[in-house]
Amino acid sequence: MIVITGASGQLGRLVIDELLKFLPASEVAAAVRNPDSVADLAEQGVGVRQADYNQPATLEAAFAGADKVLLISSSEVGQRAPQHANAIEAAKKAGVGLLAYTSILHADTTALPLGLEHKQTEAKLAESGLPHVILRNGWYSENYTAGVPVALQFGAVMGCAGDGRISSAPRADYAAAAAAILLAGEQAGKVYELAGDDSYTLRELAAEIAVQSGKAISYENLPEAEYRQALVGAGLPEPIATLLAESDTGASKGGLYDDGKQLSALIGRPTTPIAESIKLALASAE
Ligand SMILES: NC(=O)c1ccc[n+]([C@@H]2O[C@H](COP(=O)([O-])OP(=O)(O)OC[C@H]3O[C@@H](n4cnc5c(N)ncnc54)[C@H](OP(=O)(O)O)[C@@H]3O)[C@@H](O)[C@H]2O)c1
Repeated sequence: MIVITGASGQLGRLVIDELLKFLPASEVAAAVRNPDSVADLAEQGVGVRQADYNQPATLEAAFAGADKVLLISSSEVGQRAPQHANAIEAAKKAGVGLLAYTSILHADTTALPLGLEHKQTEAKLAESGLPHVILRNGWYSENYTAGVPVALQFGAVMGCAGDGRISSAPRADYAAAAAAILLAGEQAGKVYELAGDDSYTLRELAAEIAVQSGKAISYENLPEAEYRQALVGAGLPEPIATLLAESDTGASKGGLYDDGKQLSALIGRPTTPIAESIKLALASAE
């Protein structure tokens, strides 16, 4: 039986959808803070277990009887290292056979400050003695396609990623890879660098939105502090604006680039190109 944490989230739901293509629902369980948020999964026969990363006892109960656990990294940036440590300890106590963890691309060398908590979690896994596999996920294409309506409104994509190339893929591709790893044998000790087959700069992203929308869209490369201020001005909370701006600076240093094509190898098909994700975003912006 496979337990997925963060199963109420966007990636978690997609992983469960993938697993249900290959396993009966009774072999899959969703570990979530609020069981009501996955009532639809319960209706399909997926087990639902209440679990909060801040409450170790709930995690141990949620992992009981699991052969494998997918620990989807928490969305509570700044609290993630102790939260993930709770999950790792709980998996050990529950006797889980394999823990798969969604980390960040090139966690050991990344220039993105977001990488610190992932590095701490990978270290915790290494010292835990728990059999584990690391899925170092690159950027979601949705991080950029979510900005398509704003780009159309202002005629510009803004950022501070310079000429950094971004090898993104949509969540669905990372979810298919996670499911493939969970369904395969012999994964303990492996580390996967997962990223899109193709890469692009934010200038190329803007150009593609322009071509597909038929509107003039430029790329405005700003100093990091100005970009952060622009995001705050657009209504984002300061910590999120800081995180996005710092991540763009990391991307400018190559932090979101990878050409190993391990993601497409795992899912047995090319990753979804950014042009296709833009097409979808434009269709839903209409
Ligand atoms: N690679 C990328 O580009 C990228 C971008 C953004 C985030 N991420 C990372 O990837 C993860 C998955 O992405 P996503 O898009 O699925 O994020 P998401 O939709 O925000 O889902 C986050 C999940 O984490 C759960 N969670 C948060 N705090 C928790 C806690 N204290 N205890 C138990 N569960 C908790 C949430 O549960 P609730 O439903 O109860 O809130 C939700 O299920 C994120 O959490 C983040 O670490 C990666």
